[in-house]
Amino acid sequence: MNIRIADRYSLWKHMEAKVRIEKAAMEDLDEIYEIEVKCFGRESYSKWIYRWLLKDERTIFLKAVRDHVILGFVVGRVERSGKRRVGRIYTINVRPELRGRGIGRLLMNVIEDSFKREGCEEIILEVAVDNQPAINLYRNMGYEFIEKLENYYGAGRDAYRAVKKLSQRS
Ligand SMILES: CC(C)(COP(=O)(O)OP(=O)(O)OC[C@H]1O[C@@H](n2cnc3c(N)ncnc32)[C@H](O)[C@@H]1OP(=O)(O)O)[C@@H](O)C(=O)NCCC(=O)NCCS
Repeated sequence: MNIRIADRYSLWKHMEAKVRIEKAAMEDLDEIYEIEVKCFGRESYSKWIYRWLLKDERTIFLKAVRDHVILGFVVGRVERSGKRRVGRIYTINVRPELRGRGIGRLLMNVIEDSFKREGCEEIILEVAVDNQPAINLYRNMGYEFIEKLENYYGAGRDAYRAVKKLSQRS
């Protein structure tokens, strides 16, 4: 069946209204790991690491959910740098078939709010130099690319480090 673009847009707006951002829990491990493998294949973090992150109290682990299905997730942690608090984003993953619909941006907005509430002054993350969708997402959300890290993900696989200053008032 062909759906006209205007109909598709209103259909998505309807679905979007039902997307909720919630704290992920250990019972989500299998579904989260399935999404991780769809996103990163052989370069996925191990299930053991996800189990650890879900258990760790200092990790902020958020999932986007609709009708009890996890659409994507974001993982970060508050780290201390002297007296300063810094938010680090470890990963953000959206199901391949649901990309380009604002879920990544929504997850980023919510984790940024969590970091602000925790008193973080800035957020730091790393991204592979050839990961254009993620680079665009971060750039559009105000991240500055401050450094290139050679071989960060292994031989010949460079990364950018990006930073966003947080204003506590906004
Ligand atoms: C990066 C990722 C999380 C983005 O999620 P998403 O839900 O598709 O992103 P959104 O729909 O919210 O898009 C937000 C912005 O990202 C950028 N973007 C998203 N997909 C893009 C694409 N295919 N090409 C270029 N830019 C893209 C755009 O700037 C977009 O803003 P716009 O809609 O105003 O143009 C998703 O592509 C993903 O899961 N990738 C695989 C995992 C990964 O690489 N994670 C990052 C690890 S550092």
